[in-house]
Amino acid sequence: RRRTAILISGRGSNMAALLAAAAAPAFPAEIVLVFANRTDAAGLDTARAAGIEAAALSHRAYPGREDFDRAVDAELRARNVDLVCLAGFMRVVSPWFCERWLGRMISIHPALLPSFKGLDTHARALDAGVKIHGASVHFVVPELDAGPIIAQAAVPVLEDDTPDSLAARVLRQEHVIYPRALQLVASGRVRLEAGRTVSEARTSADVALA
Ligand code: GAR
Repeated sequence: RRRTAILISGRGSNMAALLAAAAAPAFPAEIVLVFANRTDAAGLDTARAAGIEAAALSHRAYPGREDFDRAVDAELRARNVDLVCLAGFMRVVSPWFCERWLGRMISIHPALLPSFKGLDTHARALDAGVKIHGASVHFVVPELDAGPIIAQAAVPVLEDDTPDSLAARVLRQEHVIYPRALQLVASGRVRLEAGRTVSEARTSADVALA
């Protein structure tokens, strides 16, 4: 089982979905650490309640982005972490950290990439008038939200949606595709090679859910 860390900043509902999936002995990833950049992240308590080690360092204590990332990296190496899942980790990671974990770090984004990179994706989707929205899991590369896509799920946008109602519909799908994507990466069936996702998943239905 691949030793996996989950990085969070807040609620941690995606983290909880990953913990639940990894609780099955046959799951190819073992969650060995939940780490937050805020000591008050609610997900830390959820992790501890599940018997998972949880730790935090405030990014504010570090002079620069890479200084913080080097401290995070030391925490990961101290636990022999092999894979990293960003799950609502609301920090842009430095190029140095991206290079160090290239192919071994994945993230979830609440939009159908490459549409709506960045923040406030649900409000922007409503403003744009799209009829289909969703979520994407991707490998992390230095360019924000631009890494090769591993899995996506689509949801309809309804006439009376608000950013919150749309976010809730997307979030339910996030909790489905993130464990599935981690399973594919941890088992080696999906890999990052030459800047692209290479998949041995048998059908596209393995990685696309609607
Ligand atoms: C999720 O919707 C995730 O996709 C999003 O933050 C939320 C975290 O919720 N991530 C981003 O916006 C990354 N830029 P959670 O803490 O309950 O998993």
